[in-house]
Amino acid sequence: MKALRAPQPKKKHWLFGNIYYLRSNTIENLTAFCDECGPILSLSSPINKVAVVCHPDYIKQIVQDNSSNYRKSLAYDILSRLLGNGLLTSLGDEWKQNRKLIQPAFHKKKLDEFIQVIVDSTLTSFENWNLNQSKKNFDVAPFFNELALDIISKCMFGSQMEQDAKRISEIIMQLNKLAIERLNKPITTLLFGNNKDLVLVQELDTYIYKIMQERRATGIKKDDLLQMLLDAKDEESGEGMSDKQIRDEIMTIFVAGHETTACALTWATYALGKNKHVVEKLKQEINSFEGPFTFDKVFSLTYFKMCVDETLRMYPPAWSMGRRNYESENFGKYQVEANTNILIPIYYMHHHKDYWENPEVFNPERFHPSVRNQINRFVYLPFGAGARMCIGNHFAMMEMIVVLFLFVQKYNFDISANFEATLDPLITLHAKNGVQIDIQAN
Ligand code: HEM
Repeated sequence: MKALRAPQPKKKHWLFGNIYYLRSNTIENLTAFCDECGPILSLSSPINKVAVVCHPDYIKQIVQDNSSNYRKSLAYDILSRLLGNGLLTSLGDEWKQNRKLIQPAFHKKKLDEFIQVIVDSTLTSFENWNLNQSKKNFDVAPFFNELALDIISKCMFGSQMEQDAKRISEIIMQLNKLAIERLNKPITTLLFGNNKDLVLVQELDTYIYKIMQERRATGIKKDDLLQMLLDAKDEESGEGMSDKQIRDEIMTIFVAGHETTACALTWATYALGKNKHVVEKLKQEINSFEGPFTFDKVFSLTYFKMCVDETLRMYPPAWSMGRRNYESENFGKYQVEANTNILIPIYYMHHHKDYWENPEVFNPERFHPSVRNQINRFVYLPFGAGARMCIGNHFAMMEMIVVLFLFVQKYNFDISANFEATLDPLITLHAKNGVQIDIQAN
């Protein structure tokens, strides 16, 4: 039987095709497209071939079973303007070698050592929030951003970011917006392309090179990721990494390692503010916890972990992933032509009625250890899946649990009157106007 072309949604612009409707209300329109044509659909676009895959078996086929037929999609080419050729964007042998090199920075023993850094950084940052008196309409988003940035730079590069954190997170937010613009308006960018993003990247580079130079200048060897990168030698040639290669890896860990976590913490605050009964249960867990924190003890905070898992389901910071196939490939009766940009809509999978009961309800119980292993890992994939799965997943989980623990312990908070958060799917899933809370220290 001849393979068929995947169905196409009816709603399309006469010139720009279906893709036009992903420029705004992206998640709503993508959801409507998937509901109409899933589990696999093709989207018309004037410049490239696009498909969306929203069935766990097909996702598994792409990221695991036949992953050698795939490289990263066009979106990652745009990301590489910022990240260069770091772990997220690199391919083949270069990726394999660097993943092997960087992996030890995330071993359990190392993570254990990071916990105190996370605690200290969080408590210092709470002091800087200056919330001695109750405050209304306090937007937590920028604060979690700066905190997550401080944590990643201290843990991975032994470097203080406190003074520069505000400017760095501003730049990254602007780059996030520019990247989405480039992705959503490729023709405009092609015709009237500007290099606003590259100017910002250059500014960010000065911070990254400063981290490298400071370490080299001290002459002191530390036991962290930065040192691993500085000392790395090619197994065959014995050559070290060039400054540009080191810069790309630092930039990748730096950006991937804080933006996502900050978004998740912001969304967790929103979900908890809307579900006070959940906060009560968290407080009970806090009361029965005996410190100090260790890696094992953090992960024994079962209810905190369930809440973080549920936050990542409802508000996945990486709301989609993309791949491109080298050769044409069949999915059931449908064929996807070679060199198609395939979108894996993580947000959609996490809200899919076939896989989740009442998906729009925040319910941490779905992740109770007694039922958690029934969840298909190609339906719930906040950290991706397969060989390219997030290298920082345990680090991120640990960080989110510890920060939330300290936050719920220290503060009482409510969502500010009349505030409703809105999804803003940039490269990562932001809340459009942050998350505003009325907050008071205990
Ligand atoms: C809530 C927090 C986080 C989320 C939701 C998240 C999500 C993801 C996802 C979905 C991918 C796979 C992308 C793909 O396959 O195309 C990924 C990859 C990656 N993440 Fe994370 N991430 C988080 C935190 C972190 C942290 C803390 C770090 C570093 C400290 C990190 C570093 C990376 C890197 C380097 C990759 C590329 C891995 C590779 O291709 O080998 N992420 N992340």
